[in-house]
Amino acid sequence: MKPLANDTLLRALRREPVAHTPVWLMRQAGRYLPEYNAVRAKAGSFMALATTPSLATEVTLQPLDRFALDAAILFSDILTVPDAMGLGLTFAEGEGPRFARPLRDEVAIDALAVPDMAKLRYVFDTVGEIKRALDGRVPLIGFAGSPFTLACYMIEGGGSADFTTVRRMAHARPDLMDRIVDVNARAVRAYVREQVAAGADVVMLFDTWGGMLTAAAFERWSLASMRHVLDTVPRGVPTILFSRGAGDRLQRLAATGAVCIGLDWSMDLDAARRAVGDRVALQGNLDPAALLTDAASVERAVRAVLAAAGGAPGHVFNLGHGILPSTPPDHVAVLVDTVHRLTRAPKSQ
Ligand code: CP3
Repeated sequence: MKPLANDTLLRALRREPVAHTPVWLMRQAGRYLPEYNAVRAKAGSFMALATTPSLATEVTLQPLDRFALDAAILFSDILTVPDAMGLGLTFAEGEGPRFARPLRDEVAIDALAVPDMAKLRYVFDTVGEIKRALDGRVPLIGFAGSPFTLACYMIEGGGSADFTTVRRMAHARPDLMDRIVDVNARAVRAYVREQVAAGADVVMLFDTWGGMLTAAAFERWSLASMRHVLDTVPRGVPTILFSRGAGDRLQRLAATGAVCIGLDWSMDLDAARRAVGDRVALQGNLDPAALLTDAASVERAVRAVLAAAGGAPGHVFNLGHGILPSTPPDHVAVLVDTVHRLTRAPKSQ
């Protein structure tokens, strides 16, 4: 495989000095780009787009053609894994994900099994196709949902403001929760291994909903299963763990074995750095709403994040959650250029 022309992300993840702070954005390929909406319309649905490697590759590269981003992220979704388990995933226009067959009773939970990875072949084929198309420009990030975050959607049947069905089950039937999270963890292990075999340079786990659990439940269902997944990632492949609402759990997240912790925008990067020391790199954490303003405000907000990051090695610039569909693409250009301009190391003579 060709060596990377831009390896700033990999260097920052190793907490080495970099030519500039690397930047990429969660949901960088998405509805704020008119060219994404055109390909999605051509495909007919989100799943048709995600399951067609040539189209998924095309939309993965779209933001890289517009902006000087330092990484590509596989275009897919975390919910492809429960879809392969037979839950029947759809994304209705303007709505969130829906499962036709959510885990509504014990019979369904007993029947749950690790899917044959052949059902997810389209994802691994897409990883290979993106790697060929990138031709070493920047690293490719592969990803999966955390076993617990997948369980949230599988039990609830879709998105939710507070996932009360899930939190109720955690109290009423912890044995069922154990069973679902265990199957998910084994599935996610196989899934990330296949993405790495297909060429992913980095693996990211999204634990969007772990933050809503009680401290004990967080340890039992979110952290333990993520450790289990991270253990299986081949040595030398860096891992990023995104946690929403990590709050006072940062040190425990840093002890999972992930090389980088992604933070939502409510966290103070400076305090986070003091909490984890130099054990891990940190990724984040601009409020996505900062991009809905104007160029001067975007620049000011970017400066504030960089100041909180403190110029120490081991920072990957990102948003604190996915980019919002109403984001003007020009503001993304301002963000990327500002990060690069303000962090560029002086050239040595
Ligand atoms: O970041 C990227 O560019 C890579 C692709 C990616 C998508 N989803 C594409 C997507 C990634 C990494 C995800 C992760 C994901 N998916 C998470 C974890 C991160 C997070 O956002 O908290 C979760 C919880 C999901 C599940 C999911 N997918 C939801 C709740 C939704 C609906 C909400 C929304 O933003 O629309 C999706 C749909 C989705 N996944 C879209 C994209 C580009 C938009 C839908 C569309 O084009 O129709």
